[in-house]
Amino acid sequence: MSERLFIFDTTLRDGEQVPGCQLNTIEKIQVAKVLEELGVDVIEAGFPISSPGDFNSVVEISKAVTWPTICALTRAVEKDITVAAEALQYAKRKRIHTGIGTSDYHIKYKFNSNREDIIERAIACVKFAKKYVEDVEFYAEDAGRTDNEYLARVVEAVIKAGATVVNIPDTTGYCLPDQYGAKIKYLMENVKGIEKAILSTHCHNDLGMATANTVSGVLNGARQVEVTINGIGERAGNTSLEEVAMIFKSHRDKGIDTNINTKKIYGISRMVSSLMNMPVQPNKAIVGRNAFAHSSGIHQDGVLKNRESYEIMDPKDVGIDENSIVLTARSGRAALKHRLDVLGVALEKEKLDEVYEAFLKLADKKKDINDDDVLMLVGEERVSNSRIKLDYLQVTAGVGIQSVASIGLDIAGEKFEAAASGNGPVDAAIKAVKQIIRRKMTLKEFLIQAITKGSDDVGKVHMQVEYEGGIYYGFSANTDIVAASVEAYIDAINKFVK
Ligand code: KIV
Ligand code: ZN
Repeated sequence: MSERLFIFDTTLRDGEQVPGCQLNTIEKIQVAKVLEELGVDVIEAGFPISSPGDFNSVVEISKAVTWPTICALTRAVEKDITVAAEALQYAKRKRIHTGIGTSDYHIKYKFNSNREDIIERAIACVKFAKKYVEDVEFYAEDAGRTDNEYLARVVEAVIKAGATVVNIPDTTGYCLPDQYGAKIKYLMENVKGIEKAILSTHCHNDLGMATANTVSGVLNGARQVEVTINGIGERAGNTSLEEVAMIFKSHRDKGIDTNINTKKIYGISRMVSSLMNMPVQPNKAIVGRNAFAHSSGIHQDGVLKNRESYEIMDPKDVGIDENSIVLTARSGRAALKHRLDVLGVALEKEKLDEVYEAFLKLADKKKDINDDDVLMLVGEERVSNSRIKLDYLQVTAGVGIQSVASIGLDIAGEKFEAAASGNGPVDAAIKAVKQIIRRKMTLKEFLIQAITKGSDDVGKVHMQVEYEGGIYYGFSANTDIVAASVEAYIDAINKFVK
C-alpha cells in the first residue's frame, strides 16, 4: 500500500522572490490555475504583509482556485497573521504558514534573543494563527543548521499549540542528504505528539542537494514537500517539483504516491519559464531541452532498438509530445490552439486571433516555431500596454564603420525621435533612447540568448538597469537582436517611468 505525499508548491512565493521574476496578479492566477490542473495539494500564494500586490494576489488566487489549499506566509508577528487571514478570506481551503528562525545564528544575530524566548514566540504565533484558521503550518527557519535536540523541543511545542504541519527548512541549503534525513528521523522518533502533525521538507539548492535532501526527508518520514516549478527560488533555488514527482513515479518500490498529473509538467515548466523570464538550463533534469535528447551514436542506436536501453522515463509521461513541438507557417489556428492547451494557456477567441496573426508574421521570419516562441507571442500583450513603446528603429552597422541608430518612441501617445552613434548597433540605439529619456540610468547587466538554434532564431534579451539606487529588469524577444535589446531596455525603463 502506497503512502500519500502532499505537494506544497511555493513557485508563487519562494520562487517569485527571485529578483526580476516578479509576476503581476493576472499572471499569478494563470500559474495557480495550471498548478491546480497539475494536482498540487497546496499553493503558497504569497506573503500578504510584504506588499499590496502580494496581498491582492492571495485574494485573487483564493477566488480563482477551487480545490488546492491556499497558503499565505507570515513572520511570527501578529499583524502579519491578521493580514494573511484577511487575504485568505475567499479561499475554500486555507492555511497560514507562520514561523521563526531556530538556529543559533538566527536566535543570536537576527533576533538578539535566546532559545527559551524563541520557543515562547513560536507557540504564541501558532496560537494566534489558530484564532483565524484551523490549518496552521509552522516553519523553523534554518532548521538545517538547528541542533536536533532543540529543534525537537520547538516542534513538540508548536504541535501542542495546534500546528497541523511543521516545516523543517534547510534555508541555507547546507545539509547533506544523510544529515537531513537523520534530522527528520530524529524528529519522527523523539517528538511527543508527532502523529498529530505532518513534517514538511523545504530544501534550498545552494550545494546542489535540494532534491536529494528532500527525497531523504521523505524516506525518513516527511509527508509534505515544498517545491517550485523548474526549481526556481532565491539564490540556487528550491527543490524542483518535477524532479520529486518523477523520482517517486519512477521508484514505485518506495511506496510513495503524489497527486501530480505528470503529463502536465512540461506545459507548466515552459509557462513559468516564459512568464518569469527565467530560462531553463538545457541539461535540467526532466524539463531541460536536452533531458531526453540522445546525441551519441551508441545511445541513439540503443534507443531506436528499445527505448528503455537508455531512457528511464517516457518523455510522454512528462507531457513532451515530440511530434507536436514544432509549428510552421502552414500550421492552422487549431494547431496553435492545441499547442497553447498543452502549455496550459487558455485564450479567448479574440486574443487567440491576435496571437495567431502574430504567429503567422513570426513564421514568415522563422521556419520552425517552438513552445518558447509561442509563449513569447502570448506575452507580447504586456508590451502593448506599456507607457513607452518603440515606434521604429533603424541602424547602420558593419565592420570598419561607426554604428548609427535612429529611433522613434511613443510615450503615452506623444512621438519622439533621436539619432546617435556608438561602438556597435546596440550601443548606438541605447544612446539614442537615452537622448529621449533623459534620466541617469546605468545598464548593469545585458544577456542575449538564442532560444533554440538557427540564424533565424528568436533572441531573448534580459537587462538590468539601475536608476536612483533601484534595479529594474527588462526583457524582450525578437528575431532581430538589436530590436530585442532596445525593447528590453525600454521594458526596464517602463518599470520606473510613470
Ligand atoms: O527557506 C526558508 O526557510 C523559507 C521559510 C520562510 C519557509 O522559505
Ligand atoms: Zn525557502
